[in-house]
Amino acid sequence: MSAIAPSASATSAQPRFPLDLTRRMVERLRSGTTDTAEHAMTEPASVFTDPVLHAREREVLFRHGAHVVGFEGELPLPNTYITKEVAGVPVLVTRDGDGVLHAFLNACAHRGAQVAEGCGDARRFTCPYHAWVFDGQGSLVGQPESWAFVDLDRSTLSLQPLPLASIHGLLVVGLSADVDPAAAFAPIADELEPYGYQHHEIVTTETYHLRCNWKISVDVNLEAYHVKFLHRDSLSHFVTNNAVHDTFGRHARWAFPTFADPTLFDAPETEWPEPAPMTLVHMFFPSCVILETPTSAQLLRIYPGASPGESTVEITEASLRPIASEAERDARRQGAGFTAKLLGGEDFPVAEQCQRGAEAGLERFVFGTVEPMVQHWHTQWREAVADS
Ligand code: FES
Ligand SMILES: [Fe+2]
Repeated sequence: MSAIAPSASATSAQPRFPLDLTRRMVERLRSGTTDTAEHAMTEPASVFTDPVLHAREREVLFRHGAHVVGFEGELPLPNTYITKEVAGVPVLVTRDGDGVLHAFLNACAHRGAQVAEGCGDARRFTCPYHAWVFDGQGSLVGQPESWAFVDLDRSTLSLQPLPLASIHGLLVVGLSADVDPAAAFAPIADELEPYGYQHHEIVTTETYHLRCNWKISVDVNLEAYHVKFLHRDSLSHFVTNNAVHDTFGRHARWAFPTFADPTLFDAPETEWPEPAPMTLVHMFFPSCVILETPTSAQLLRIYPGASPGESTVEITEASLRPIASEAERDARRQGAGFTAKLLGGEDFPVAEQCQRGAEAGLERFVFGTVEPMVQHWHTQWREAVADS
């Protein structure tokens, strides 16, 4: 199935972050400790440079994986659409006139040109090449000189559907018909209900082309061990490595305090700040990350490039709810600018350095007990690549 009915609105009275997770983070903050793994582990550095493995990952994890592409809030009304590049595949998501969501290959049924670009309102999509026209359900509804195609059953000339699921407003697409996005996200689906992805509005999206393997681009988002060193003049002023983490099948989440004064939590729980001063990081296997801050969500979609030493990162800054004023939009833009400075100016350059180390012949990468999320991700990656 590629089409899904409109989802119910999220309830708004829930705390931004799960209370049990906040309690655990407060304990870590008070004690000055962090969640840890049992043992250090290693990964051969060749996994970041091997072209055979790279081709296999693209096929197994990306072509046959399930990928977050955005938020239902990007298609708030009937007859709206978005387009996305997902690991090099052009994808079109529509909300048709009845409010039902669909995903398609953004490739014309005539000869493959892209029938839509950007996002917005549309009841019809007209291909730029020979002007075939499709509706929001992907059906061919216009075809110049249609007499030339009477040999073909018109119902076979629709846009090619892709599997799509809305996980509490998070849009997840499969790039092949055999992918079941709902099943892939079942282990973490219940956890996502409070976040209100149905109402998220996109502020801006930036694309980064990096000279490093896509796994290194993922890894930089999965530990706070580096914060007081790499980010000593920026993030380290308000982030501490008092992290807690949980796993949900291949997926995971971790959280750490931001701007958190332990005395804030001396009061009874009912008087704790809401939202709690923390950042929660959702990691959706294989390669999507959402940085959930008290006031925003930053979606990172990370994809392999043409070679093992290249990757693409799309960073989308989202408001948690529709933006009501220009002042609010400016505040969100500033948030996006800060993320761009941190990731683009500090994390990504060092990720490219790591790639150079791997390509120079380094034997292995090391993940310590203070990097449990990186360990979980690499363990899952290894199983996923081996299983298929
Ligand atoms: S490729 Fe779209 S109409 Fe020809
Ligand atoms: Fe970082």
